[in-house]
Amino acid sequence: MPQPPSAINRRFITFEGADGCGKTTQLTKTAAFLRARGCSVVTTREPGDSTIGGEIRRLLLSPEVTPTPACELLLFLADRAQHVSERILPALQQGCWVLCDRYSDSTAVYQLAARKLERDRELTPLLTFAEQGLTPALTLWLDLPIATALHRIDGRTGSDHEGRLDHESARFHQAVHHGFAARQQQYPERIKRIDATGSEEAVQERIQAVLTPLLARD
Ligand code: TMP
Repeated sequence: MPQPPSAINRRFITFEGADGCGKTTQLTKTAAFLRARGCSVVTTREPGDSTIGGEIRRLLLSPEVTPTPACELLLFLADRAQHVSERILPALQQGCWVLCDRYSDSTAVYQLAARKLERDRELTPLLTFAEQGLTPALTLWLDLPIATALHRIDGRTGSDHEGRLDHESARFHQAVHHGFAARQQQYPERIKRIDATGSEEAVQERIQAVLTPLLARD
């Protein structure tokens, strides 16, 4: 009998942080670290990593359209519902580690907090609905000072990584930063703050220090 998502999440790890925090690089390095220890690893990201998700990502990040906050929220949740069913749950059911670049904490921070939708308390169950009860066992929040993150975002103008949300105001990016800090305080057991300053190697060492006890218990 298939197990409920809450029972198979122990190998589900999400990477979160403000734009420009370096989480994608760290996710790739973490996958290599786990594979070197014999783990089967699936790496994935939101939005975009499902058959329908690519189209949703294009819509969400296109600078040519401006969805309302409600439309934006629902598109991220549509992407997640498909992604969980099609990619994350099957990989976990096969015993793989799943490293996911952004997940529900991004929605809680970008849409509910920074877009100020959180006043509408009826929205939280919608997030749970899209997740289908699947919460990560561990979330690594890569915390970078806002000024450094904004500098990195400026540096990727014109690159493949540039997206509509990069062009939000400094105040929006500040709200995102505060949103992640508040979320970490709310869920200190699950969300671990990683100091994202310094070299890529230094940041990776901090991540491995958090992961090693988890591997020992696996
Ligand atoms: P990425 O640049 O990390 O691929 O993420 C794309 C953008 O989407 C980034 O600015 C954060 C944003 N985002 C949300 O606003 N809400 C969400 O739920 C997710 C998954 C991403």
